[in-house]
Amino acid sequence: MQNVNEDTITEIVLSRHADSGDERLKQIVTSLVKHLHSFARDVNLTEEEWFKGIQFLTDVGHITDDKRQEFILLSDTLGLSMLVTALNNRKPKGCTEATVFGPFFVEGAPEYENGDDVANGAKGEPCFVSGKVTGTHGEPVGNAHIEVWQADSDGFYDVQHAELAQSQARGSLRSRADGTFHFKSITAESYPIPHDGPVGRMLKALGRHPWRPAHLHFMIEAPGYERLITHVFRAGDQYLNSDAVFGVRSSLIADWQQHPAGRAPDGSDCPTTFSTLDFTFVLNPVGVETSGDAGKTAAVSASS
Ligand code: BEZ
Ligand code: FE
Repeated sequence: MQNVNEDTITEIVLSRHADSGDERLKQIVTSLVKHLHSFARDVNLTEEEWFKGIQFLTDVGHITDDKRQEFILLSDTLGLSMLVTALNNRKPKGCTEATVFGPFFVEGAPEYENGDDVANGAKGEPCFVSGKVTGTHGEPVGNAHIEVWQADSDGFYDVQHAELAQSQARGSLRSRADGTFHFKSITAESYPIPHDGPVGRMLKALGRHPWRPAHLHFMIEAPGYERLITHVFRAGDQYLNSDAVFGVRSSLIADWQQHPAGRAPDGSDCPTTFSTLDFTFVLNPVGVETSGDAGKTAAVSASS
């Protein structure tokens, strides 16, 4: 085909994919090309702007390595990660809602027993976390595998401290037979996502801040239930309504109770102020799905 023009180019590009043997790939690329072309027409994209975009994506690639994933950060800050999370986690009413995974999960974090201190030396005010894992009928879910991870009071995850040899403020434990679990950690504080690269420059140019409200990450897995990836957010945080990655759901906001120095829930004498958090996680049994718009939670079918 020759002499393509602004009116014919989209259909001509799409026709080149007609023989792809991979139907799903064809569906995705077709939609992507249509939307990209619509976008260029919509804003009447100049050649200079097109090249600026190419340079921006090149910078995103150059700063990305096995420790820094700027493409995920870009997806997070444009709301794409949260959209994909919502599309893939439609759950019946009453289930704990999912939110973004984030780039700071680490496979193979230390395993802990109930009552242990997962902070492992991380900087921050002590926090005593207790919780329960249940199914949708309130049945306790014992032996659930619970992964937790969080930033320290300087706003950094252990993996962001280049000099740190051991894991800090992350680990896994299991719920007891009655679904309960508890551990010691540090009080979650709000922190900025990495913003010293192209995504940070983009946020600045758009008049946006890079902050996330204080939160604790959880990933909970148990046989017979869907894996839950979520956070618990700290009530009262100033960034709850402007999370840089759009991850806040009001059902995930909880009170971190503040306490003066003194007797802690584990019976020890805590020499500093400390906080306590209690949260129940409701898992969705495998095979129970919802339909309708992303994020809506009306149950329509159940099978077991
Ligand atoms: C996080 O909560 O760890 C996170 C999520 C998205 C981008 C950066 C950090
Ligand atoms: Fe986080």
